[in-house]
Amino acid sequence: MKICCIGAGYVGGPTMAMIAKQCPEISVHVVDLNQSRIDAWNSDELPVYEPGLYEVVREARGRNLTFSTNVDQAIAEADMIFIAVNTPTKHFGMGAGRAANLEFIEKCARQIAKVSEGHKIVVEKSTLPVRTAEAVKRILSSSSNGATFDVLSNPEFLAEGTAIEDLLDPDRVLIGGESQAAVKALADVYGQWVAREKILTTNLWSSELSKLTANAFLAQRVSSINAISALCEETEADIDEVSRAIGTDSRIGPKFLKASVGFGGSCFQKDILNLVYLCEHFGLREVADYWEQVVIMNDYQKRRFAERICRTMFNTVSDKKIAIWGFAFKKDTNDTRESAAIYVCRDLLRERARLVIYDPKVSKETIVSELLTALSDLSGTISETDRELVQSNVTVVNDAYDAANNAHAIAVLTEWDEFRELDYERIYDTMQKPAFVYDGRNILDRQKLTKIGFEIFAIGKSN
Ligand code: NAD
Ligand code: UGA
Repeated sequence: MKICCIGAGYVGGPTMAMIAKQCPEISVHVVDLNQSRIDAWNSDELPVYEPGLYEVVREARGRNLTFSTNVDQAIAEADMIFIAVNTPTKHFGMGAGRAANLEFIEKCARQIAKVSEGHKIVVEKSTLPVRTAEAVKRILSSSSNGATFDVLSNPEFLAEGTAIEDLLDPDRVLIGGESQAAVKALADVYGQWVAREKILTTNLWSSELSKLTANAFLAQRVSSINAISALCEETEADIDEVSRAIGTDSRIGPKFLKASVGFGGSCFQKDILNLVYLCEHFGLREVADYWEQVVIMNDYQKRRFAERICRTMFNTVSDKKIAIWGFAFKKDTNDTRESAAIYVCRDLLRERARLVIYDPKVSKETIVSELLTALSDLSGTISETDRELVQSNVTVVNDAYDAANNAHAIAVLTEWDEFRELDYERIYDTMQKPAFVYDGRNILDRQKLTKIGFEIFAIGKSN
């Protein structure tokens, strides 16, 4: 059995590494158009930071796991082809700002149709609008080599930062498809390490829609608790106490109730907007509005955080130094896509704050590029003033102490564990007074910090 995966990103890389590790008899070839990404997968500096990933890759690479840019060869040799390319929100033309851009999916389908011979199973691993498989099937059926295909939907539910645990022991594996033989072939791959009762099979459309729905429900929980956090700040209720109190109700459950500066990541917003677009397309206005509110609430939470900083620092942050701790969208990943930090930093820059940013896993290039994009207009153009603002007001450093040195305030934007264990007396001594702390993740010990002398503001806690 030979597997090919098109797309060596946050999903393709880790997912295929796990299949290769668990199924030594299957040859797994991951391909991408991006040469530098492939080079990184073949090196000791993987392009994706994920706890435990390096060990999994090292075990299988060179044995039955290959990374290359030989897309055509990998497709031609494979019995089963996973498509794990990006499906970002469209930022042009019809559906701009809502619909998923399916350009990369369609290009893959056309390439598979062109290069394939015999029979192949094509697996949608990317997150797609419901009924995309129909388009994929149509394109594949145009193959001029007489090749035949079965199309399956097998959405991925891993979360970044815990991808290896999630892949090793998933809550479920979902396979949607029409051909029982194809469904069985894919179920047999996962069956090598996942219990059979956790492998769910559905029709194609339920599988595609379940993925969008799962992300919408998860994001909705975060927006719901964040909405209540705003009320807590006004009423002296404490959001962590409220989360605990409601989470013990077994019908609600404790997960995804951590109030924060706002959810980020490449998928929650994109997938909800995609769902909203689909509902609009089918004339379901009320359903579209219902889900869009989850994104509106998230934007409000990010904006509210930056506004609270300005308001409590005597209504001006202009020329004040603010230490930004954490830039990734959550801990244990180097991924910054849609990170709340980007928007908080953008709003503070617009107020002319001086930002000194530290993240243990995100490079200076990535931080600067995210901020330039956030300050650009829809066509990607940035004004000279904003470009200069980033150049003059953003510094990236290698350590949290350095960032806080001489700062007027610290804003915690990612919940990295190391922020819990710092020497806060030392930090207090090096800061301007009053020394403000804005805990966007509720990870710091408020009592301890207040005793040292900090003025601490946290999400869903009144002062
Ligand atoms: P990514 O941007 O990290 O990786 C996609 C890769 O596909 C890129 O390296 C790109 O160069 C490559 N690519 C694009 N077109 C190509 C083509 N025609 N031929 C070869 N390579 C091509 O994206 P990702 O985060 O891995 O997400 C991929 C899909 O999985 C998305 O649909 C996403 O919604 C979904 N998903 C992501 C996560 C996650 O945690 N990131 C989790 C579940 C599902
Ligand atoms: C999410 C889903 O959890 C995965 O199941 C899904 O496969 C993936 O999206 C995807 O389709 O891409 P991910 O975005 O990697 O995974 O990470 P999450 O743990 O879901 O966190 C998303 C965001 O919500 C982060 O910014 C996180 O800090 C925030 N969050 C999460 C909270 O603010 N509070 C919470 O209680 C939980």
